Amino acid sequence: MTESSPSSPPSILLIISGGIAAYKSLELIRLLKKTGTTVRVILTKGGAQFVTPLSVSALSEHAVYTDLWSLKDESEMGHIRLSREADLIVVAPASANLIAKMVHGIADDLASTTLLASNKPIIVSPAMNPEMWTKSSTQRNIALLKEDGVHIISPTIGEMACGETGPGRMPEALEIFNVIQNFLIKEKPLSGKKALVTSGPTFEPIDPVRYIGNRSSGKQGHAIAAELERQGASVTLISGPVSLPDPAHIKTIRVETAECMKNAVLENLPADIFVGAAAVADWRIENQTAQKIKKRTGSPTLDLKLTENPDILQIISNLPNRPQLVIGFAAETHDVLNFARAKLLKKGCDWIIANQVGTDENPVFGSDRNQVTLVTHTLTEDWPVASKTTVAKMLVQKIIEELRNHEQPSCHNRSA
Ligand code: C5P
Repeated sequence: MTESSPSSPPSILLIISGGIAAYKSLELIRLLKKTGTTVRVILTKGGAQFVTPLSVSALSEHAVYTDLWSLKDESEMGHIRLSREADLIVVAPASANLIAKMVHGIADDLASTTLLASNKPIIVSPAMNPEMWTKSSTQRNIALLKEDGVHIISPTIGEMACGETGPGRMPEALEIFNVIQNFLIKEKPLSGKKALVTSGPTFEPIDPVRYIGNRSSGKQGHAIAAELERQGASVTLISGPVSLPDPAHIKTIRVETAECMKNAVLENLPADIFVGAAAVADWRIENQTAQKIKKRTGSPTLDLKLTENPDILQIISNLPNRPQLVIGFAAETHDVLNFARAKLLKKGCDWIIANQVGTDENPVFGSDRNQVTLVTHTLTEDWPVASKTTVAKMLVQKIIEELRNHEQPSCHNRSA
């Protein structure tokens, strides 16, 4: 059994607008980078008066984006992609001017256009002179931003660079960093949830050089593991022998046989979600030999005795501390839905993802596309033909909805 290691780096788009507090944002970039976070930075014209693009790009290890009309910036990563590829947008420091533009949907530079085009959560850390901060126009704008769902980090009170004292100071980088960390943990729908996914085939040895296997590529199971991780779950992937690389940031345990897969699954419980996407061999060789079986003259046949493998899905479904949601797969060559419904009852799982295999339109094994039917105890839903990545996204969205509808404490709080 081999293992690779976990932990997922989030991605942040930091917008630095004009204010003396911009120097604190350099420290913020450094703190974020230390945790492996990807940081891309937009520097407004005002921001560039206080920190240089060179220091920002050296610390963030990425090009700095400054100009909406720069062919280079837009071709490298346009304003839409800048926001789409981030998990969170942080505006620090946020000037009174940029805040006012956000409130009114003004898009006249790269920062304001990206903010208007964004579909991601936004944290704003205002920084300005106390008179500007307390002015009713600014306070109105802040109230409107809050109504729009923007998270505001209240400025602190203290001596300002201009010599005046009052509210309007941007908190220290470490405080903003902590707000970001808490926000990221809460923001992902599956944060705090643990998921176990099996993927790929199992190989059942006949002798030291031969095995019985199947055509599963692991593409669907690996895509599901990656999507669960992207949505915040802590994922353990237990994979049979596949030629795919271990997915980044996911604890991956590689096994060969069904027996080893079962042990790895049991060792990694409890979990909130179990997805059995592996094509586990139903039988293993009972009379497996320690030495390579040789051809024997006069004996053209070879008897292999098969014995049933443990059914991992059934075992997990019937454990007293079973995961809240147990999902199996059913790849069938015929009568798919009837077999899927029977499997749901026999194994005791919650959902079955059924598909017909071996047809020209849906070869499934090894293919990048898949057409599946979701079968639960209450519904049957045909999904369109889609890439395995899209099927994974659709399935994980269903999982998120299901867990939301039956909110329970995470398995980490439950006794095993
Ligand atoms: O019974 P069948 O192999 O068709 O069931 C398929 C589902 O059951 C898949 O989710 C597969 O991962 C799981 N399974 C299992 N252990 C087995 C056989 C199948 O977990 N020994």
